[in-house]
Amino acid sequence: MKARNPSKPLSKNPNLLKWVAKMAELTKPAAIHWVDGSQEEYDALCAQMVEAGTFTKLNEKLWPGCYYARSDATDVARVEDRTFICSLSKNNAGPTNNWVDPFQMRKKLKSLFKGCMAGRTMYVLPFSMGPVGSPLSQLGVQLTDSPYVVVNMRIMARIGLPVLKEIDKNEKRVVPCMHSVGAPLAEGQADVPWPCNAEKYIVHFPETREIWSFGSGYGGNALLGKKCFALRIASNMARDEGWMAEHMLILGVEDPKGEKTYVAAAFPSACGKTNFAMLIPPAALKEKGWKVWTVGDDIAWIKPDAKGRLHAINPEAGFFGVAPGTSVKTNPNAMASLSKNTIFTNVALTPEGGVWWEGMTDTPPAKLTDWQGKTWTPAIAKETGAKAAHPNARFTAPASQCPTIDPAWEAPEGVPISAIIFGGRRATTVPLVYQAFNWSAGVYVGATMGSEMTAAAAGTIGKVRRDPFAMLPFCGYHMGDYFRHWISMQKTLSESPRIFCVNWFRKDADGKFLWPGFSENMRILKWIVDRARGRALAKETPIGWQPRFDEVDWTGSDFTREQFTALQVVDRAAWRAEVIGHEELFIDLHSHLPKEMVYERELLICRL
Ligand code: GTP
Ligand code: SPV
Ligand code: MN
Repeated sequence: MKARNPSKPLSKNPNLLKWVAKMAELTKPAAIHWVDGSQEEYDALCAQMVEAGTFTKLNEKLWPGCYYARSDATDVARVEDRTFICSLSKNNAGPTNNWVDPFQMRKKLKSLFKGCMAGRTMYVLPFSMGPVGSPLSQLGVQLTDSPYVVVNMRIMARIGLPVLKEIDKNEKRVVPCMHSVGAPLAEGQADVPWPCNAEKYIVHFPETREIWSFGSGYGGNALLGKKCFALRIASNMARDEGWMAEHMLILGVEDPKGEKTYVAAAFPSACGKTNFAMLIPPAALKEKGWKVWTVGDDIAWIKPDAKGRLHAINPEAGFFGVAPGTSVKTNPNAMASLSKNTIFTNVALTPEGGVWWEGMTDTPPAKLTDWQGKTWTPAIAKETGAKAAHPNARFTAPASQCPTIDPAWEAPEGVPISAIIFGGRRATTVPLVYQAFNWSAGVYVGATMGSEMTAAAAGTIGKVRRDPFAMLPFCGYHMGDYFRHWISMQKTLSESPRIFCVNWFRKDADGKFLWPGFSENMRILKWIVDRARGRALAKETPIGWQPRFDEVDWTGSDFTREQFTALQVVDRAAWRAEVIGHEELFIDLHSHLPKEMVYERELLICRL
């Protein structure tokens, strides 16, 4: 068979062809490659990146089909201060987003993108967020000069020919996504393994539904289907069209009767979504017949069905998961998912051609090459504190490889959602679990979420910041209007999911976690599911409903009543300070804040 000529367009859609031509004219790539999404193409691109030094092929026996990439040391996480929402009016972006006048920004982008792909190939990458053809899915085309992005996107989204077929049907709007690493090559100039630019721009035009990303090749900055499209642009679509685009995992809990209850949960970046989505119950609960199924680990698109029940899809097809801390002990399902056909970025390399990261095993290997290519030994680490893997090192693994992937994970109509959980990383104040009194009280809980900052974004790690709905970096419009959208969604529902708050990260005075977390979280999840199904009791507290010690299933656990009480304490003084923190956010948003939030705050203060 003759090899396909990749420069030959794979679409007849005149709008698409015109746009590709126009962008090529602007960015001046040396070649154009239409991505068909095939395995052969993937293999060829990977081989090409091995050749170029971007990829290392891992030991085929230990890590079949796996590759390793090391990024530039300055390009390791999302750059929130370089992320822009360029709505026509500044008022529509709101105070929590960076805003630049769209006309000014377009001028800037034009100059940045002018000739920026010189010496490189421009890939035309059609993708579907959500199963191809699902009424809940959305289409995009990313133009990128990064083959690393193309192969990652093949794992994270549905790409290539089946998507082009959908686009050519011309029934759905396609979101144009421009991406360049911003490192043009002059004639004869040698490339580097991880090209990028010190100047970064992650730009969204909500009204025209466009994304322009410049200067970074890493994660959410560059895999544009993920945060840029599925959250920032999709949140705008969702508001206009009556659905929700959320930074949430989706899981299904099977109870001993075999009945399934689906739950969506919003935790900020690096706060446990992947772990929770793949939870394996403790042995004693497993024996009783409890099991957790995985639908998605990062993003949920949620829409009422014809009967007014919320249904959710996972718009992604893979996991872009935090590697450090992932182990057979903490998350065996993630370890199985990433055991083959996976791309690792910024983890450490073993002498056998395998990978390692902090927390993968109790004892680190004697010698490694760290994420910056330097020799790493436990002794060096002890002396310098150097980490073998970057704290935001990630694996890109196909969701289909997850042993607990839910049989309905690609159902075009999605799965019915019975409970919504909000959670953050809080050393103090916020108890292990409570249930909000009702929908608007639940929206207040989501709106006032706080969390300590993590390595998933550039910034001060450990500082508590308000992160409403875990969407602070991802809401593509005014946060106050987003709260209002949440409030108003209930009016379209025949049944509202119950809303809960969890905190796996409460610490004692010595800074030690009070809660073992991980699979033990099942005990809390079971109570949540039982509450959603109206079969568990709770006690009223100023902030919501809490389980008593005896209402949690402790079979096989030696966790004591005293320990549980310490975790569940609602300290009135601490909560009064907490409400002041809520108020700081509300003052920023005041001109768009729904009155329900003000009333809920007043009620909370009264109860305290
Ligand atoms: P993003 O992909 O950035 O959105 O992150 P995520 O929310 O999926 O977080 P993830 O599940 O990858 O967890 C991030 C970190 O939190 C890892 O280091 C985990 O080991 C740790 N973690 C997850 N669950 C728990 C838990 O129940 N208790 C404790 N103490 N740590 C946890
Ligand atoms: C997050 O930061 O929430 C992530 C990783 O899921 S990234 O795709 O880089 O945004
Ligand atoms: Mn995330």
